[in-house]
Amino acid sequence: MEAEHLDIERRDACRSYLISAGHARRGELIEHRPLSGGVSSRTVLVTFTDGRRWVLKQALAKLRVAADWFSDPSRVHREALGMRVLGELAPPGSIPRLIFDDETHHVLGMEAVPEPHENWKSMLLEGRIKFAHALEFGALLGAIHVNGFARRRELEPLFRDTAFFESLRIEPYYSFTAARESRAAAFLTTLIADTRASKQAPTHGDFSPKNVLVLQDRPILLDHEVIHWGDPLFDLGFALTHLLSKWHHLPAYRDKLHFALNGFLQAYFQSVTNCPWVAELGDRGVRHTLGCLLARVAGRSPLEYLPNLERNRQHDVVVRLINDVPQSMHDLIERFEREIIAAE
Ligand SMILES: Nc1ncnc2c1ncn2[C@@H]1O[C@H](COP(=O)(O)OP(=O)(O)O)[C@@H](O)[C@H]1O
Ligand SMILES: [Mg+2]
Repeated sequence: MEAEHLDIERRDACRSYLISAGHARRGELIEHRPLSGGVSSRTVLVTFTDGRRWVLKQALAKLRVAADWFSDPSRVHREALGMRVLGELAPPGSIPRLIFDDETHHVLGMEAVPEPHENWKSMLLEGRIKFAHALEFGALLGAIHVNGFARRRELEPLFRDTAFFESLRIEPYYSFTAARESRAAAFLTTLIADTRASKQAPTHGDFSPKNVLVLQDRPILLDHEVIHWGDPLFDLGFALTHLLSKWHHLPAYRDKLHFALNGFLQAYFQSVTNCPWVAELGDRGVRHTLGCLLARVAGRSPLEYLPNLERNRQHDVVVRLINDVPQSMHDLIERFEREIIAAE
């Protein structure tokens, strides 16, 4: 079967594929369910008669977003490599196990997360906010960074290529936003240069509540195609952006979200306390948070749950902060919250 013709979301095609690849025998596939939630791939849950439950993932060349946005489907192999290595760096059980990585069809197979699990982003948006989940989220990121840093001689060469991070993060988030918002252009251009110059630790690149499934109160991390050796503080700013934007969007849950995002930071900080980039939290950590906060309302991939009014408000507030950059994470959170409230 030609790689470009295979569509794993079609049941018959998927079954033939699994049989020809030697993963299943005829009559063995009992369930085939396309999973929603992703924009960059086809993702399908398959169940076999012997009880195996796998998730197959096939990267798309054109992403399912409003703007035209293309990326090489071979990034699924980066994800497979990331899954293998992250499984060693992250706490046990927090990364699904890789089963196969098919270089011909650009498909990978992994173990399905058992039911019942819930997507953490959905839980947060519904106001089901637990401090413990935020702590685990911070500790998970910290473990990936600190344990990866400890193995830097071996891992740096494996993850040196930043092409996917460039095309899926730097361009659509920072460069695109810099071109559209002149008041942030110099700030973002400097941030891009500093990001490229920072080669410190494995950087996940998509460390977001949307990519976390919660199983028995423990987070399981998905979606590793942007992983590279780079600036760990990008992950911190990227993740914090999701929590701060939800704080903005959900006035009824602001107390809980405020504690949650501080808990996330505290747990992260505790894990990486001896790493070299800790000294830069108040600098690049702050700047990535501001860069992502702006990119997610003005870039190529705006947060879909923020209505225009909230996007515009966040845009104005973040531009003001960019022109008078807070000097610590604590200061950033305090001023973001204060200025959003003042603008409401
Ligand atoms: N191992 C898995 N077990 C259960 N569900 C999964 C698994 N991997 C992915 N999913 C589901 O599929 C969705 C999309 O997967 P993801 O890897 O995030 O793809 P995308 O790159 O398209 O965002 C996830 O949000 C999740 O609901
Ligand atoms: Mg995803």
